[in-house]
Amino acid sequence: MTSLANWLTQHKQQLKRIDLELLLCEALKKERSWLFAHDDAVLTDKQSAWLNQAVAQAKNGKPIAYITGHKAFWTLKLAVNEHTLIPRPETELIIDLSLQLPEAPTQILDLGTGSGAIALALASEFPLAHVLACDLSPNALSMAKNNSEANNITNVSWLESFWMEQVDPEMSFDLIVSNPPYIDPDDPHLLNLTYEPRSALVAENQGMSDIIHIINNAMAYLKPNGHLLIEHGWNQGDEVRDLLSESGYIDVQTHQDLAGKDRVSSAIKPHAQ
Ligand SMILES: C[S@@+](CC[C@H](N)C(=O)[O-])C[C@H]1O[C@@H](n2cnc3c(N)ncnc32)[C@H](O)[C@@H]1O
Repeated sequence: MTSLANWLTQHKQQLKRIDLELLLCEALKKERSWLFAHDDAVLTDKQSAWLNQAVAQAKNGKPIAYITGHKAFWTLKLAVNEHTLIPRPETELIIDLSLQLPEAPTQILDLGTGSGAIALALASEFPLAHVLACDLSPNALSMAKNNSEANNITNVSWLESFWMEQVDPEMSFDLIVSNPPYIDPDDPHLLNLTYEPRSALVAENQGMSDIIHIINNAMAYLKPNGHLLIEHGWNQGDEVRDLLSESGYIDVQTHQDLAGKDRVSSAIKPHAQ
């Protein structure tokens, strides 16, 4: 019979403490705060067996979120699977920046929604807004819809679309957000990301092709004074700002994530466009 405290000690060389705790939470169907108060609780045989295979998978490189089947993003718990990128904490910068806009947006477009992370976080923060969330992957959209139901969020609609291609050209938005694929196909870091869909991670032209497409096409869907927020790689800020300025956007800025790295660029459609 193993207590939680003993199990954590026995496995501390194998995985990070936070990952062990997340696996324990999943095995016991409890929150982390419960673990801290009950570290003398004893694991059942079934829980131990599940934890052993989960640790083995994690040691083989399978992300914890794919083992537990979910990931926390903003205030939400989101289900993820092999069709969806695991939402990253740095993407929460898009939500932070949206909350700092001078006026609350009422029409929001999320391009490449994946698990629905950005769309659902914005929909929950702006309950009077409507969010349209697009993705090329029907499997990702189906996961995103499940996440909206599980989180009781109803002010989002979902559209299968190559970026904005299927969006009604009559529609216009106060805010367009996107975390597109932006990794260079030759980036060696991809070797550590083999579990996530390549189509969610990689873009041609040194990771820039989807960013360029979005920048070139978003203006037509923005209201005058509408905002574009786009996530990109830590080393793509200069290029993204140049592209935004060349395309006629104003107030072009790049914002840093909690690690101090360039992560999201923002721009505004001028009134005259
Ligand atoms: C980096 S993931 C972001 C997922 C989610 N927004 C997040 O931040 O966690 C990029 C998403 O863009 C989608 N995608 C890739 N190419 C696309 C395209 N041409 N049109 C629409 N969506 C696309 C992928 O399926 C994936 O869900």
